[in-house]
Amino acid sequence: MLLVSGPRVTGICHVDIYGKEGILGIAILESFQGRGLAKVPLRYAIKLAKELGLERIRSVDIDNYRAISLYKTLGFNIIRRINNCSRSFRNSFVDCYEMEIKLL
Ligand SMILES: CC(C)(COP(=O)(O)OP(=O)(O)OC[C@H]1O[C@@H](n2cnc3c(N)ncnc32)[C@H](O)[C@@H]1OP(=O)(O)O)[C@@H](O)C(=O)NCCC(=O)NCCS
Repeated sequence: MLLVSGPRVTGICHVDIYGKEGILGIAILESFQGRGLAKVPLRYAIKLAKELGLERIRSVDIDNYRAISLYKTLGFNIIRRINNCSRSFRNSFVDCYEMEIKLL
């Protein structure tokens, strides 16, 4: 899914399907963040995944307050923390959280 504002692409959201599981990714253009935009495609992705008969959607997020808070608001739970799983832009390693929403 693409979010657009006039001629600009302001966000992207995808769910890759592996059997009964979906893996979610989302990004909103920096200047459009913090306005609640991400909830729109995420709610639609969850609805579509239910209609397609998926059992759960998962997402792995680096230690990112906004993303984790957003997913919790939409009903995701943290299922595990993975230490030092991703290299940050400062070149140090940061923890990741695997989150999941059950759809059944
Ligand atoms: C994570 C991301 C998709 C959120 O999109 P968004 O449209 O900015 O989301 P929202 O405006 O709904 O804000 C998300 C949460 O962060 C909080 N938030 C917003 N601005 C904030 C700020 N300046 N400081 C702290 N928290 C803030 C909101 O209150 C919201 O929490 P809530 O859902 O509990 O109300 C966006 O920041 C982004 O694209 N980040 C980079 C890519 C990424 O990290 N993707 C997720 C991993 S796949």
